[in-house]
Amino acid sequence: MAVRDAASLLVGLLVLFHTWGVWADVEVNMEDRVEVYAGETARITCIFQSTEGVGGLLIQWFYVTRLGDKQPIYYLDSTMSYADRGTQFSDRIHVNVTVATGEVVLTISDVLLEDELEFICLIKSLTEGTGEGRTKLKVFAAPDLPSIKGMQTGISINEESPSKIGTCEVKNGFPKPNITWYRNNTPIRGIQDVVNIVSRITTESSSLFSVSSELSMKVVKEDKDDQFYCEITYFVPGGTRMTETNRINITVYYPSTAVSVWVESPKGKIKEGDSIELQCRGNGNTPSSIFSFKHQDVDLTLDGDTLVLHNVTRLNSGVYHCISTDTDTFEDISGNTTVFVNYLDPAVVRPEDTIIVPQGEELKATCNALSSVATDTAWFKNGEQISKGNTLIVKDVTFDTAGAYVCVVTVPEIEGMKTSGTLDVYVQGPPEITEPDNTEMEQQFETTVNLHCNVRGFPTPKVDWTTSDGKVLDTASQELTEEGIQSTVSLKVTSDITVFCNATNNFGTDAVTFNIKATTHTTAATTAATTTTTTTTTTTTTTTISSTTVKAATVNPPKKIKKETSGVVIVVIIICILLLAILGSVLYFLYKKGKICGRSGKQDLTKEKSNKDNIVVEMKSDNTEEAVLLGVNGEKQPPNDQRGEYLDVQK
Ligand SMILES: *[C@@H]1O[C@H](CO)[C@@H](O)[C@H](O)[C@H]1NC(C)=O
Ligand SMILES: *[C@@H]1O[C@H](CO)[C@@H](O)[C@H](O)[C@H]1NC(C)=O
Ligand SMILES: *[C@@H]1O[C@H](CO)[C@@H](O)[C@H](O)[C@H]1NC(C)=O
Repeated sequence: MAVRDAASLLVGLLVLFHTWGVWADVEVNMEDRVEVYAGETARITCIFQSTEGVGGLLIQWFYVTRLGDKQPIYYLDSTMSYADRGTQFSDRIHVNVTVATGEVVLTISDVLLEDELEFICLIKSLTEGTGEGRTKLKVFAAPDLPSIKGMQTGISINEESPSKIGTCEVKNGFPKPNITWYRNNTPIRGIQDVVNIVSRITTESSSLFSVSSELSMKVVKEDKDDQFYCEITYFVPGGTRMTETNRINITVYYPSTAVSVWVESPKGKIKEGDSIELQCRGNGNTPSSIFSFKHQDVDLTLDGDTLVLHNVTRLNSGVYHCISTDTDTFEDISGNTTVFVNYLDPAVVRPEDTIIVPQGEELKATCNALSSVATDTAWFKNGEQISKGNTLIVKDVTFDTAGAYVCVVTVPEIEGMKTSGTLDVYVQGPPEITEPDNTEMEQQFETTVNLHCNVRGFPTPKVDWTTSDGKVLDTASQELTEEGIQSTVSLKVTSDITVFCNATNNFGTDAVTFNIKATTHTTAATTAATTTTTTTTTTTTTTTISSTTVKAATVNPPKKIKKETSGVVIVVIIICILLLAILGSVLYFLYKKGKICGRSGKQDLTKEKSNKDNIVVEMKSDNTEEAVLLGVNGEKQPPNDQRGEYLDVQK
C-alpha cells in the first residue's frame, strides 16, 4: 500500500514535472517601447524569471531588420560575452545583468535616428527552456523654431481663385512634425475652391524632416483684421509638444461703398478770400480707385484726394461732389458736401464822403454793409469809438463836431472780416478865432515875431493881417485845419505896433488884435556889457566869453523871466560866498601847516584869489543863461496841444 502510494506520488510528481517542463519556458517581460532623443542614451530592460543561476543561462540580443530577420547584436553565457561585429551597434552597446532580480539592461549610447528598431531579448535556460521579449525603440528630434512669411502685396476680394496668404516652415524634426494653420485662434480647414493648404515634406540628408505649408484662400473684406499663424505639433519622448509662429495679417483690397467729403481747412466758417481745402475719402481700401471733384457740373482738378481752392468768393458756395471710380470695376460712388462762403460787402456811408452841417443843427449819417452774417457797426473819430450801431447822430453840432468820421463794420463770428467807410463833416458857421495866449507883448527892437491866428469856421474863412496904420501884412504861411485855417505872419519889430488878424466868410467876421511894445533898454545893456568886457579883457580871456554870455542872457527875456533870473543870481552869490569861505579856511589851514611862506607864496595867493573872482563871474553868467532858457521853455507849449495862437521868440 505504502509502495503504491509512494509510486502514485512519484507518478504525480513526474506528471507535474512534465507539465512544468512543457510550460517551463523562461518568462521574459519587456516594455512595448522605449523613447529617447537622438544623441542621448537608450536603456532597454529585459526582466526574466528563472531559478537557474547565471551559469545555466544564455542571453542574446537581436534587432529586427526591415525584412523581418533577426540580427544578433549581443551574446552572453557563463563563459563569454561579446557584441556582434559589423552592426551599427557594435561600438555603442553594453549589457548589464543582475541575476538576483532577473534584469538584463541593454544600453545604447549616442542614439541615432536609424536606431529606431525593434529589439529582442532572448533568454535560454538549460533546464527551463527559452523565453524572449520585444521592445520597440522610438527616436525623436525636436524641430527648429518655425517661421512664417506673409504676402507683402495686398489681396483683392475680387480674385477668382484662392490667393496665397503665406507659408509656414518648420525644419529638422523627427518624426515628421505637423503644421496647422490658424485664423484668430481657430484652425483653418481646407475647403474646395476656397481654402487650400498644401504641405511639403522634405527629408534632409540627416534623415530629419522639414515641413512647409502654404495657405491660399479667397479673401473677404472681414479678413482685413484677421491674424494668421501656424501651430507646429511634434512628438517628444513621452508625449507631444507644440510651438506657434508669429502672427501675420494681410492687406485686403476692397472697393468703397460710400465716399465722404469734408472741408479740411479752414475749420469753422469760411469767408471770401480764404483758401479752402476739401478732402475726399472712400470707406474702401483699394489702390485702384481715383477721385474727382465736381461743383455745379464743372470738373475740378485735384491734388491726390484733396481739392484746394484759393481766394474763394461767394460764387464758390454750393455743393461739391466727390466721385470715387474703381479702375478695376469702373464703378462710381460719390459723396458730397455743401460749402458756404460768407461775404461782407464794402461799407456804404450815407451821405457819401462829406456832409456840411450848419452850426447848432443835427448831424445824421448811416453806415451799412451787406453781409451773409450778422455784423456789428461802430463809428470812430480820431481813433476813439463815439457810437455803436449803424446810425450816427450828433445833436446841436459845434465846430468841435467837425472832422473825419470812420465807420467800421465787423463780423463777430468770423475773425478778420471787416470793412469801413469814412465821412468828412464840415460845420457851417461864422469865423471864430481861438483867443491867443498873448496879445499884449514886449519885444526887443529889431527882433522878428511870428504871430499866429487859428480860425474855425466853414466855408473856410479868409484871413487878413493889417496894422493899425492900415498896412496889409503878407501872410507867411497858411494851413487848412480840420475845422478851418491857421494863418501866420512874420513881423520885424521896429516900433510899437498894433496888428489885426481879421477872418471872414459868408456867415460873418472875427478879429483879434496884437499889441507889441518895442523895447530898447536891452540895447543899452549890450553896450554896457561890451564896455565891461573892454575893461576886463586884460585879466583873462574867459571873461570875454562870460560877458558875451551875460549879454545873450539879458537880451530877449520878457519881464516874467527877469524875476526868476534875480532869484537865481541871489542863490549864485550865496554859493560864491560859501566857496570863498571854504577857500579862506583852506588857505588858512595851509598857512598854519607852514606850507605857504615868504613873499612869493603871498603873491601866489593873491593871484589865485583874483582867478577865483573870475570864476565867480563865469559861474554866475552860466547859471543865468540856463535859467533864461528854462524860463522860455517853461512858458512855451508844444504847438500841437494848443489851438489858437502862440508866440515864437526869434533872435
Ligand atoms: C500629425 O498628423 C497625423 C495625421 O493627422 C497624425 O496621425 C499625427 O498624430 C500628427 N502628429 C502629431 C505630432 O500630432
Ligand atoms: C497688421 O496689424 C497691425 C496692427 O494690428 C498693423 O500695424 C499692421 O500694419 C498690419 N499689417 C498689415 C500687413 O496689414
Ligand atoms: C480888422 O478888425 C479890426 C478890429 O475889429 C478893425 O478895427 C479893422 O478895421 C478890421 N480891418 C479890416 C481890414 O477889416
